[in-house]
Amino acid sequence: MTNVITIDGPSGVGKGTISEYLSDQLKWNYLNSGALYRAIAWVARNDSINLDDIIGLECASKNIEFSLKSKKLKIVYKNKEIGSLIYNEEVAKIASKVSSKPKVRQSIINIQRSFKKEPGLVAEGRDMGSVIFPESQLKIFLTASIETRAQRRFKQLKDREFNVSLPALIEDLDARDRRDKERKSSPLVIPEGAFVIETDDLTVVEVKKAVNEKVNETYGTDI
Ligand code: DC
Repeated sequence: MTNVITIDGPSGVGKGTISEYLSDQLKWNYLNSGALYRAIAWVARNDSINLDDIIGLECASKNIEFSLKSKKLKIVYKNKEIGSLIYNEEVAKIASKVSSKPKVRQSIINIQRSFKKEPGLVAEGRDMGSVIFPESQLKIFLTASIETRAQRRFKQLKDREFNVSLPALIEDLDARDRRDKERKSSPLVIPEGAFVIETDDLTVVEVKKAVNEKVNETYGTDI
């Protein structure tokens, strides 16, 4: 049996930081499932595929090569590595729309499951524990209020000298939350049996500590 830890939660809650940390510590594979939706979004924009053209989107998803390189996701489209091109607000907005389409979600279920490989997998997203890996031994769900998440993002962007407004970030997160929670196919839910960590009043170090304790409790591994 291959081990899987799932980490789900809303946008901007810090899933990436925690999942990357945990997969590095455990030396397990790391699936950032949001990157798959972002890659499809990037291709849709690049190839001018209308977001209502479901067949076009399905086709796009089939033509993207997703693989693991040094335990992390590698994304190639038409012989070009596109992993570094998908982390921007424009792609995020399209990804949010693309990910609400049931057929698009269906088209990448098997790809996501294929990343479950020895010595184990840390899978991060919105439906990792509820739909993709319901068999996972440890399901973690991170939460934080929309204000906390917007403040963190605001600080990150300011530090990188981006000019952003806090109300605009809150509005954007609110729209994404609604799309994640209200879509019919695999909405964002707390998976059954998940360990919920409210991160509003916790530092990153404290969240890592809480996760480590849960991992030790589940696997008896000292990490
Ligand atoms: O986590 P992220 O911001 O990179 O995700 C990009 C988009 O994909 C976001 O709108 C939520 C969606 N997503 C999803 O619907 N299901 C997942 N398992 C992961 C991401």
